[in-house]
Amino acid sequence: MQADEVKKVSVIGAGIMGHGIAISYALGGYNVTLNDVNDEVLDKALNRIRKAVETFAESALISGDMVDQTLSRIHATSHLETAAQEADIIVEAVSEKLDLKRKLFARLDLLCPERTILASNTSSLLIGDIGAEVKRKDKILITHYFNPAHIVPVVEIARGAETSDETVDLLHGLLKKLKKVPIRINKEIPGLLINRIQNAIRREVWSLLEQGVASAEDIDNAVKGTFGFRLASIGPLLTYDLAGLDTACQVSRNLFPVICDSHEVPLFIKKKVEEGALGRKSGKGIFDYSEEEWQEKVKQRDKEFLERLKCLYWSKKD
Ligand SMILES: NC(=O)c1ccc[n+]([C@@H]2O[C@H](COP(=O)([O-])OP(=O)(O)OC[C@H]3O[C@@H](n4cnc5c(N)ncnc54)[C@H](O)[C@@H]3O)[C@@H](O)[C@H]2O)c1
Repeated sequence: MQADEVKKVSVIGAGIMGHGIAISYALGGYNVTLNDVNDEVLDKALNRIRKAVETFAESALISGDMVDQTLSRIHATSHLETAAQEADIIVEAVSEKLDLKRKLFARLDLLCPERTILASNTSSLLIGDIGAEVKRKDKILITHYFNPAHIVPVVEIARGAETSDETVDLLHGLLKKLKKVPIRINKEIPGLLINRIQNAIRREVWSLLEQGVASAEDIDNAVKGTFGFRLASIGPLLTYDLAGLDTACQVSRNLFPVICDSHEVPLFIKKKVEEGALGRKSGKGIFDYSEEEWQEKVKQRDKEFLERLKCLYWSKKD
């Protein structure tokens, strides 16, 4: 199968990631079947999808006419059989549980046509483990999106030991057609590239906050206004070349021995989770905002993301 032969894409799991992945394919002109366990979850997802697509139009990334066209390409169903039927590509975005994903892949392997490629959006599992029970081992891989999936450009592509070059190349071509930036991961490792890098930052940021080195607001503002500011335009490796590898080397020699290398999540975060302080989804986490304030933060974030997407990615001709 070639990228231009793909007609139907199905997304399994309509949560935070699944609804965004569905939008991305629908914006690219594909018919998408979105599946979840019940109609209530799907109704919620369709509402979110409408709002997100309207915001694309408000930011002039798509025309007003394209809103209804895009929405008409997304069909919701709670029947897995309907999602599997005639699908060329299936993207799995269900909860991060190995057993659940493995059983789902095994079931899809039985239900789908022979040509169907099965992609997982897992953040931390290996495709070899998720697809342990499928026969089509040449047609399984990870396509790992970042939240919000319809906005953030990069998608990591990771193959399993038996994934074919054709499968990887097809997804690579398809994602480029969706104006995404596909990144090939050459080794099967947990967390791929970006979650490993993000977790290195998370460990240090939580440790600095726990030690009281600065307030949560100041840590966030410091990161946003320094390497956060730079990173949208220039990657870390080129940054080190521009700064001088000798200097980078000396700074790391001094700091590697003193920065956090814990294998444990800090106690204050574990406690917050135990107490149900999960962040936006439960009202408070590290920050304690009212519902209106959370909504305002997310609205502002999405507005800025879309501006950045427009000027750094969608305006490019290639
Ligand atoms: N949230 C993120 O920032 C993020 C980023 C990248 C990757 N991921 C990965 O994406 C996947 C989904 O994460 P999420 O944040 O969207 O989770 P979520 O909890 O928001 O959504 C998961 C959805 O899967 C549905 N589901 C569970 N079992 C199902 C089944 N058998 N059939 C159909 N639907 C089923 C649930 O009802 C739920 O709606 C996970 O593997 C996660 O690790 C998440």
